[in-house]
Amino acid sequence: MSLRAALGEVGAGIDRGFDALLPVPPDPRARLYEAMRYAAIGGGKRLRPMLVIATCDLFKVDRERALRAALAVECIHVYSLIHDDLPSMDDDDLRRGKPTLHRAFEESTAVLAGDSLHALAFEILADEATHEDPFVRAELIAELARASGPAGMAGGQMMDLMAGEIELDLAAVTRLQQLKTGALIGWCLEAGAIMGRVPPEGRTGLRGYARDLGLAFQIADDLIDHEGAEEKAGKRVGKDQAAGKQTFVSLLGPERARRQADILVAQAIEHLQPFGDEAELLRAVARFAAERDH
Ligand code: IPE
Ligand code: IPE
Ligand code: MG
Ligand code: MG
Ligand code: MG
Repeated sequence: MSLRAALGEVGAGIDRGFDALLPVPPDPRARLYEAMRYAAIGGGKRLRPMLVIATCDLFKVDRERALRAALAVECIHVYSLIHDDLPSMDDDDLRRGKPTLHRAFEESTAVLAGDSLHALAFEILADEATHEDPFVRAELIAELARASGPAGMAGGQMMDLMAGEIELDLAAVTRLQQLKTGALIGWCLEAGAIMGRVPPEGRTGLRGYARDLGLAFQIADDLIDHEGAEEKAGKRVGKDQAAGKQTFVSLLGPERARRQADILVAQAIEHLQPFGDEAELLRAVARFAAERDH
């Protein structure tokens, strides 16, 4: 199956999942649910869900369960985007080709929708329908908590805010991106291995792939911000430079940054060698992550 078709299928599954999980209640909380639906349904590349499902497929994990883990990481991702766009953070008005949540609703509602999606991720993972073994569920939850918090995404976002204030060298920017973007991407591969009952010593290749893919993905994000088109990206561009943020592109220049992304993709693919043809979808994701324009 082509990556395009696979992404389409995963995207439809994620939309169906959110639709089922977020019925609008007939009470004053309706606006919160509507806001969550606005942000979560019908948009985005669904790359993290794709990574969860492609890794689960490697280990023959049941598709319905894989989809639940995929929904959980997309919850965290959408919450992170809602908060990232807030006036106190990147102050953006366009996301996934439509007004950001705080523009379409209120800022207060956007904060609560982010909070609620954050909570929903863990509620999904804690449910028996995700996995019958409570130890597996606990590991999924613990790893997602780590990847989302100060040692992961939120920590990376803090460093990203500082990147406009203080000088960061290439090593510091690499660490920033590994936390901001890499940690959640890493969880996607880890989740597939956890659900597939792969012991930690069998996860080295997947972890290497995730690390290289995460950096390549973020270099592409920085390149889109530097030289991409808003209509394609579905979000504002030129924001990093305007905020004086150090990124891979500001530190290396666009040509070297692009070369670096290509090297990282080749390395990521190299890590999949033990998995043979079965890992073709993950290879396609890696190539797409660096070449993308949106
Ligand atoms: C954008 O992520 C924010 C970053 C972590 C770089 P994506 O590029 O995956 O955004 P969507 O989900 O496709 O909208
Ligand atoms: C946001 O990074 C990353 C997270 C939400 C964790 P960016 O600020 O670079 O993402 P975009 O460019 O707004 O999508
Ligand atoms: Mg940001
Ligand atoms: Mg942003
Ligand atoms: Mg960006």
